[in-house]
Amino acid sequence: MCGIIGYNGVSSAVPFLIDGLKRLEYRGYDSAGIAVISNRNIRQEKKKGRIAVLSSALKKRDDMCGTIGIGHTRWATHGSPTDENAHPHKSGKFTLVHNGIIENHKELKEKYLKLCDFKSETDTETAVHLINRHYSGNCIEAIAQTVKLLEGSFAMAILCEDEPETIFCVRKASPLLIGTGEEASIASDISAISSKADTLYRMADGEIAAVKKDCIEFYDFNLNKIDKERSEFSVGYAHTEKGEFDHYMLKEIYEQPEAVKRTVDSYLQNDTLNMPIKTDKPERIYIVACGSAYHAGLAGKLFFEQLLSIPVSVEIASEFRYCSPLANKKTPVIIISQSGETADSLAALREAKKKGAPTIGIVNVPESSIATESDSVIYTKAGTEIAVATTKAYSAQLSALYMLAIFFAEKWQTAEKKQLSDLTEGLRKLHICIKNALGCEEQIKEIAARFADTEHAYFIGRGSGYAVAAEASLKLKEISYIHSEAYAAGEMKHGTISLIEPGTKVIAICAPNGLNAKMQSNIDEVKARGAEIFAVTCTHETKADTCIITAEAPHPMMSISTQIIPLQLLSYHVARLRGCDIDKPRNLAKSVTVE
Ligand code: M6R
Repeated sequence: MCGIIGYNGVSSAVPFLIDGLKRLEYRGYDSAGIAVISNRNIRQEKKKGRIAVLSSALKKRDDMCGTIGIGHTRWATHGSPTDENAHPHKSGKFTLVHNGIIENHKELKEKYLKLCDFKSETDTETAVHLINRHYSGNCIEAIAQTVKLLEGSFAMAILCEDEPETIFCVRKASPLLIGTGEEASIASDISAISSKADTLYRMADGEIAAVKKDCIEFYDFNLNKIDKERSEFSVGYAHTEKGEFDHYMLKEIYEQPEAVKRTVDSYLQNDTLNMPIKTDKPERIYIVACGSAYHAGLAGKLFFEQLLSIPVSVEIASEFRYCSPLANKKTPVIIISQSGETADSLAALREAKKKGAPTIGIVNVPESSIATESDSVIYTKAGTEIAVATTKAYSAQLSALYMLAIFFAEKWQTAEKKQLSDLTEGLRKLHICIKNALGCEEQIKEIAARFADTEHAYFIGRGSGYAVAAEASLKLKEISYIHSEAYAAGEMKHGTISLIEPGTKVIAICAPNGLNAKMQSNIDEVKARGAEIFAVTCTHETKADTCIITAEAPHPMMSISTQIIPLQLLSYHVARLRGCDIDKPRNLAKSVTVE
C-alpha cells in the first residue's frame, strides 16, 4: 500500500521527493515523511496527515538540502497514524522507508533487539534496528544479513551516513522500480517517476540494489552480483491532471468511453479478435480478483458460462490462496487487477502457477508484478487511474472479459457464429453506448440529493443485475460512507428483508436478462415493507418510485457496462453532497499491497 520514493542526483532532493509523494499519495495518505543526507548527516521530517502537512513543516527547515533522499507516504498497518509511526525510521547511522509487512517483527524484537529503544509501534522499525545491529562498517552486508531474517513482504529504501552517495534498495514481494536517466530515482509505482526517467529497472524478489546517481548494481540476498536488463516506459501511464473536473473520479467516469474503446481496439482488428492466449478448451475456468475487479469477474462468469458452457468459479483472491484451490494444468486461472500489485491477487496468481495452472492476467499497469508474472496478459487500456474508487479500469476490465469470452467461443466453437458476430458488433459500439449512458448526470444529481442524509441503502438485482448491484454498492459505501449492501434480489427475503423499514432506500437493477417479472415481484416485496425504490432500467415497466432509465447496451449481455454508469455517478454526487474526500476516501488506498 504505502508509497516509496527516492532520488539520487545533482539537484536538491526535497522538491523531487515531495512531487513524487504527491503522485503516490493515492497509495496511502495517513502520514508521510522524507529523509535526506546532507554533509554526511541524515536529516528527516515526518508528519501525520497528508503530504501538504509535510510540505508546510518542511518550509520551516533550512537544513534539508541534500541531493540524495528517500520519502514515504503511509497507509497504517502496525500502529495508528502518528508522527512517530510515520516513516522514515532511524537507528544509528541508518534510516529507511518500507512498504509491506514484516510478519515476524515481534519474534525478531524479542530475539535480537531487547535493549533497543523503539520510538514507534511499527513493524518497520525492527528492520532498521537489525541493520544497525549487524553493521560493522559494510552497509550492504548489514542489509543482506538483515533481509534474510525478515519474513513477510517488503520493499525498502535505505540511507546510511557512512555511504552518503548510495540509496540501498531491497525487495521481497512488494514492488520497487528504479528509474535511470540524468539522475537515479526510485519508486514503488511508475507514475511517480515516469516523467523524470528514461528507462527503468524492475527489482525482482530477493534482490538488493545499490543506487548511485550514475550507476546501479544489483545483488541477490547472498550478495552475488546480478546482471539486469532495463526496460522502456510504456506510453500513456504518465501522471494525469484533473483538468476541468473537480475530482479525478468524475474525470475518470467521463473517460470510460475512451478507456473501453482503446481496450477493444487493441484486440479487435477488422472482424477478428486477436488475443495472445493459446489455452485449449479446459474443464473449468477460475477468475480470481479483489474488490471491483472481483465484481468484474462476476460479470465475466455470466458471459463465459453463456458462451462457453464451461463452469466458471469466481473467487476472492484472499480466499482462493488459502482454500486449497483445485486449479491444475487443465484449469486456466484469470487474475483481474487494475494495479497489478494487489498483494492477495498476486499471491493467488503465484499459488495458481504453483499448481501448474495456465495464468492469464487482465491488468491495467503493464509494468506491474501481475502483468510480468502471468503466462499471458490482456492489457486494459484505461490509462492511469488516480481516484481510489475505480470506474474506468472496471469498465475496461468488463470489455476485456467480453472479448476473452468471444475469443474463446470462436476458438473452441462453443457458440453460434451469428451470436458471436452480433457480440463482436456490440463490442465495437460499446463505447458509444457508455457515452450515451453518461447523459443521465443531471437526473442523478437530483436523485443524489435524496440520498444525502441516508444511512443505509440496499442494491438488488438478478443475474447481470446482481453483478451491477455488487459493484454499485461498493462504490457508494467506499466514497460516501453510507452503509450499503448488495443482494441477489431473490435472496433478500431470506433474512435481510427484516432491515427494510418505511423509507429505506432500495436500488433495483432491472437488467434486460429475461428476469424482469421476477425482479418486479422482489420490488413488490420490499415496497410492501415501506422501502423507497429506485429502479435502474431500460424500460418504464417497473413498479419503482423513481426510474433511472439507462441508455441501451449494444447487446443485452453487455448491459452491465451501461447500467453501472448512473450508479457510479450517484455515488459520486452523494459523496460530494456529504462533503466526503472523494478521491481519497478514509482508511483506503488505491493499491492494496499488503495481505
Ligand atoms: O488494483 P486492483 O484492481 O487489484 O484492486 C482491487 C481492489 O482493491 C479495488 O478494485 C478496490 O475494490 C477499488 N477501490 C474499488 O473501487
